[in-house]
Amino acid sequence: MDATDLNHYSDLKKKLASIDSEAKTGGNYIFYLSTSPSLYSSIAGNLGDSGLSEQGPDGAPWRRIVVEKPFGRDLESAKKLNADLQSKFEEDQIYRIDHYLGKETVQDIFALRFANGIFEPLWNRNYINRVEITASESIGVEERGGYYDHYGALRDMIQNHLLQVLGTVAIEPPSVFDATDVRNETIKIFRSLRPIKPGDVAKQVVRGQYTESIINGNKVAGYRQEKDVAPDSRTETFVAMKLYIDNWRWGDVPFYLRTGKCLPTRVSEVVIDFKKTPHRLFSEEILCAATPNQLIIRIQPDEGILLKFGMKKPGAGFEIKEVGMDFHYSDLADAYIPEAYERLLLDCMLGDATHYARADAVEACWTFVDPILNAWENDPAVPLYGYPAGSWGPEEAKYIFNSPEEDWRYPCKDLSTNGEPCEL
Ligand code: BG6
Repeated sequence: MDATDLNHYSDLKKKLASIDSEAKTGGNYIFYLSTSPSLYSSIAGNLGDSGLSEQGPDGAPWRRIVVEKPFGRDLESAKKLNADLQSKFEEDQIYRIDHYLGKETVQDIFALRFANGIFEPLWNRNYINRVEITASESIGVEERGGYYDHYGALRDMIQNHLLQVLGTVAIEPPSVFDATDVRNETIKIFRSLRPIKPGDVAKQVVRGQYTESIINGNKVAGYRQEKDVAPDSRTETFVAMKLYIDNWRWGDVPFYLRTGKCLPTRVSEVVIDFKKTPHRLFSEEILCAATPNQLIIRIQPDEGILLKFGMKKPGAGFEIKEVGMDFHYSDLADAYIPEAYERLLLDCMLGDATHYARADAVEACWTFVDPILNAWENDPAVPLYGYPAGSWGPEEAKYIFNSPEEDWRYPCKDLSTNGEPCEL
């Protein structure tokens, strides 16, 4: 059928009705828009105008619509898309997929925080020094150059996936674990994001683009040489940024987000970096290489949780070394980690939107991201750094830390410089 032609929807309606009566189904429909985002509004409009969005009394049979990101390119287009969808469907019929919310390990953050008594008392500005959220990819843009060149890493990964993970890390305990309460709490986090002033964009946000390099002896193309990418493109394939959540729990705790393509490895993780002990009983010399306590939530791959702490090195003298309590999902005999989509689509069938993005959350995230995009577009003084494919991005990414002693966690070495294979 032609998705833009209203007439074709009456055929679809008849077809669905005949399937229902033959197969005696419940007559529930999910319209999953696996289409170009440019068709979302017209498909939703046509579904509505042909009566296909109408549910039965008390929502039985039900009608739901699933849309994938991108939910717009900026705040204005996101608002328009939300308005178009909401003019034909009620908000509780609309399921906006952000597949990071369907990842087992992201959902586990709720369990870690709210099913255990030991973490939550520490989960605040009094004990946490900073939070790092990284989603690094070793692949480039591959066949998606046409799409990517119009979006870039900020829109493709930060506005949605990384901010949603941040929402889960930072959320206040909801009163009930359901779609309404969880999302009511999440929106408060997004509304508390401290806006980045135009003049601070260059200081708080670093953007980069991968350039040609040699990895393990093989030449790797730079972004501008990729298929369907403009040869003078200024689209970013890497973003590192510092942001703050202005509320009581997180006041002045920096959150660092980082994402990029053609980095040394594929890893997504959250690092909770705890403050140092208030009194240093042991000298810096004794503490040796022991870093402060860190809790690392490994979202993927090798899903798990690692708690790093210092212990006395056995033997004579007194030296402290860093050790870890390490949990891997793969150690669970009965572990089956479903694909994010598997989990999310089942939730949609069950009518549970807890792990779907609500309209107000999408708009609040754009509200935060828009000024950065504007500064990039309009202020020639904000640089776009090149970084060799296979490296951890531009060096400038570490200058956004509050202290010059701080740096990102690097789960493996740069590939572009030393050519060594990386181990996680
Ligand atoms: C998608 C982005 O939403 O997420 C891609 O459009 C990115 O550019 C992908 O590669 C990453 O997902 P995952 O699950 O592999 O981390």
